[in-house]
Amino acid sequence: MSDDDKRLAAEAALGEVQDGMLVGLGTGSTVAFLIRALGERVRGGLGIEAVATSIASARAAEAVGIRVRDFAEVARVDLTIDGADEIDAWLHAIKGAGGAMLREKVIAAASTRMVVIADGSKRVAAIGAAKLPVEVLPFARAFVTARLEALGAAVVLRDGVTDNGNVILDARFGAISDPAKLAAAIDAVPGALGHGLFLREVDAAYVASAGTVELIER
Ligand code: A5P
Repeated sequence: MSDDDKRLAAEAALGEVQDGMLVGLGTGSTVAFLIRALGERVRGGLGIEAVATSIASARAAEAVGIRVRDFAEVARVDLTIDGADEIDAWLHAIKGAGGAMLREKVIAAASTRMVVIADGSKRVAAIGAAKLPVEVLPFARAFVTARLEALGAAVVLRDGVTDNGNVILDARFGAISDPAKLAAAIDAVPGALGHGLFLREVDAAYVASAGTVELIER
């Protein structure tokens, strides 16, 4: 994992941002590089507005001069740029180590285009080794834990609550043989509000390794 590569990937994706766009800002340490670079462009005259996938990203964006709109008032986003914990050649991703995957998925779904930025440590042959975060209604914590265990996961309750006031269960499956089937199974559990499997949302990824950026396109 290298900060230089995170910055490189972020700067490459910045090339997709055009004047007049409403830009979705992801969450995490790679997106932090994006927000800083985007702030510089805005201070230099680029006319964009943003929506943010977390309170932390909204604050970071405002701090560098980016105007952040309330997503509750927004139905469509032009371009979202976000990080990932794992991404494969088919643009299947696991997200949510930072706990923002529910808002990230909503904003990704609202976006005309969604691109991932990542350093090479996130590039995998097949997703599934990373923990899969599941955002859960606190009321349903034990019930959802039991359902995830029945699906084959070792489940750990994460400390704290999300920006939405919910809890996170980190589910480790070891390997995920059929990601679409697993996503559908988790989607079907009442009280599981969202999870970090992004199987159709990502349109492209900028992955930087040892100073070189690879663009993976759908
Ligand atoms: C936030 O919940 C996550 O989905 C992040 O986008 C993801 O964990 C990548 O974060 P880093 O860029 O910090 O690795």
